[in-house]
Amino acid sequence: MAVDDSRSSTLETRTVVSGARPTGALHLGHLNGALKNWVELQKEFHCFFFVADWHALTTEYADVRDLRASTDEMLLDWLAVGIDPERSTLFRQSDIAAHAELFVMFSMTIPVPWLERVPTYKEQQEQLQGRDLSTYGFLGYPLLQAADILVYKGDRVPVGEDQLPHIELTREVARRFNRLYREVFPEPRGLVVNAARVPGTDGRKMSKSYGNAVNLRDDPQAVYDKLSRMMTDPRRVRRTDPGDPADCPAFRLHEIYCTEEEKAEVSVGCRSAGIGCLDCKKVMIRHVLAELEPIQARRRELAARPQTVREVLASGADTARAKAGATLAEAKTAMGL
Ligand code: TRP
Ligand code: SF4
Repeated sequence: MAVDDSRSSTLETRTVVSGARPTGALHLGHLNGALKNWVELQKEFHCFFFVADWHALTTEYADVRDLRASTDEMLLDWLAVGIDPERSTLFRQSDIAAHAELFVMFSMTIPVPWLERVPTYKEQQEQLQGRDLSTYGFLGYPLLQAADILVYKGDRVPVGEDQLPHIELTREVARRFNRLYREVFPEPRGLVVNAARVPGTDGRKMSKSYGNAVNLRDDPQAVYDKLSRMMTDPRRVRRTDPGDPADCPAFRLHEIYCTEEEKAEVSVGCRSAGIGCLDCKKVMIRHVLAELEPIQARRRELAARPQTVREVLASGADTARAKAGATLAEAKTAMGL
């Protein structure tokens, strides 16, 4: 996957930082949206990838039963897809106190309106009706994210497009600190890879909460069942009705998974009603299953050794703590502490 890396940053650091809230089992949307990119990035950069469990609390504080299990599940999936703890530092946010300390220090310098005008703030409050999101922590969400990034002097942050306002805020936070005290932090940039947008089985964006996801750990039969029922071009009511791949959610998966020849062939078949939807989908399903097979084999190995996740988190925390501690010391000195 191509990553625009042409501009260099002020401090010439080469550190990638990204986090994800613990959502439990991951699906094809995560795999094609972020994880494949992370796997590539770790070949080029030192990467810090963490489970943002404090961030999970900003919206889920009233129901924390699944938090630990979701963290472990997500980490297992990361390892299974090839995020490599030998190359990258994998850890849990709440294990590294320095994130919280830097967050407190930043909070002294950042005007509340900067946070109120981050677009996700009001959007999320409107979307997640039924819970009280007028909390201090929820308002501070992007500032904690800034601390997550800057505590490693991260300068490249792979994120989805929706996160760009948070990266912009992070840059403003770094700039303000550097101007008020002295140059400590690089201004990071978001790396938005034109990652594939994966539709779920109902044609909407693939998401756990829509119940339309194909999970990385679904067994082959479940994957087959879900994808063979996936929404297609609604014009193909009968087998004899022609369709258009451009209007077919399932074909978005062909675009990700199939060869040029396969795509050309089923497209012709679709437009001429020469191929049925199930036969068309089978061409794509074969690739999805082939991709999932080694991931699931690795996941089985990992799950058979439950101490693996704990060991990865412990050793990742050691590495992260050392780097974060050094930055924190520098920032404290700069701030007169
Ligand atoms: N807010 C990010 C999301 O919802 C998760 C996140 C928390 C993050 N801290 C981060 C991403 C630091 C990148 C860097 O996806
Ligand atoms: Fe979609 Fe294939 Fe059916 Fe055409 S034939 S509508 S591309 S599944």
